[in-house]
Amino acid sequence: MTKLRRTVLISCILDVILICCIFFKSICASQAKAGSALFVFGDSTVDCGNNNQLFTMARATFLPFGRDFDTHTPTGRFTNGRLSIDFLVPGYLTAGDNILQGVNFASAGSGIFNSTGSIFGQHIPLQEQVRYFGNVRNRLIARLGKEATSNLLANSILYISTGSNDYVNNYLLPISPLYLEYTSDEFKEKLISILAQQIELLYDFGARKIVIASFSPFGTVPSVMERYGNESEKGFSFLNVFAQEYNAALFLKLLELRVKLPGSYLIYNNVYNTIQDIILNPQQYGIVHTQTSCCGMGRFGGAIPCLPKLPVCSNASQYVFWDEFHPTSSTYSIIAQRFWSGSIADSFPINIQELATL
Ligand SMILES: *[C@@H]1O[C@H](CO)[C@@H](O)[C@H](O)[C@H]1NC(C)=O
Ligand SMILES: *[C@@H]1O[C@H](CO)[C@@H](O)[C@H](O)[C@H]1NC(C)=O
Ligand SMILES: *[C@@H]1O[C@H](CO)[C@@H](O)[C@H](O)[C@H]1NC(C)=O
Repeated sequence: MTKLRRTVLISCILDVILICCIFFKSICASQAKAGSALFVFGDSTVDCGNNNQLFTMARATFLPFGRDFDTHTPTGRFTNGRLSIDFLVPGYLTAGDNILQGVNFASAGSGIFNSTGSIFGQHIPLQEQVRYFGNVRNRLIARLGKEATSNLLANSILYISTGSNDYVNNYLLPISPLYLEYTSDEFKEKLISILAQQIELLYDFGARKIVIASFSPFGTVPSVMERYGNESEKGFSFLNVFAQEYNAALFLKLLELRVKLPGSYLIYNNVYNTIQDIILNPQQYGIVHTQTSCCGMGRFGGAIPCLPKLPVCSNASQYVFWDEFHPTSSTYSIIAQRFWSGSIADSFPINIQELATL
């Protein structure tokens, strides 16, 4: 497959360019058979419905979730419409044999630690998701042979968005065993070291192009604001400092891994930067509400989660946050645009459009 065609394919796969897929579905479908694929790992920021198959409270299977999706029905995505990574690849738990275009392994509530997500119920931790990737690789080898599979995986893009649940829904919870076991520095180092091991495993499986999302400024999400207070109080900044410190450590670890894993392209996707920019310059994006969610109740719309029959805003595009944790579809689309074609401040050392042509 030529570089150009591969670019078209990947561009179809990523969300910005969803429009491309809506208009050129046949191109996407026919090209996808040939060359590269998209594999997604992580939590609710990228779960397209895997949790629908699990026994967990972390499910988005009722309206108003999905209200602004193409089908106007809930899909399991934790937002009103589409996610940044959407949606040419089926969820692992429902994919069946349909794996050639890639697979989405993400599971809402999950994190880097196996225990993260337990408060909601069943979940698929990152390490399990990576094991599933190994299973998919074996199935690809059985179908395509070793060489074709290794080409496919080397050309594919892997996207990992995980880790904030390890803080917000595990380490920072009132009675957390992890909080007793680790100082915040040790916890951060532990998370980064498990994540690095998983990146190395993916590399050993043959993946080369791996994009890792930074943490968002999670001190600003409505549920956290309810818990720790507004900007003027200390909560807001102290959680953002956790996110910044984690991001700095991740950035350094990726520098190290690039040297350790020859031929790898490890991309740092600076979601923090993009969301902070939207929060500080909302007018530029047509956004009006940066502190309160569209669907939920409480001072910041984060005390009671988004549930059927609760009040919900009429135009989610004017909000950064859809519910107590998650961005709106319009925020996701800005994130997607910025890592697709943004500067090194958004995507380091190259953006995804460039990554796809390599
Ligand atoms: C987490 O689960 C994986 C299996 O998915 C297992 O291999 C690993 O040892 C577990 N890690 C810990 C710290 O229990
Ligand atoms: C949060 O604090 C800022 C000032 O620091 C204030 O302008 C804003 O209205 C507050 N938001 C809420 C929802 O209370
Ligand atoms: C919703 O808000 C967006 C962003 O401010 C605006 O562009 C759009 O026209 C609004 N839609 C409706 C139906 O009012």
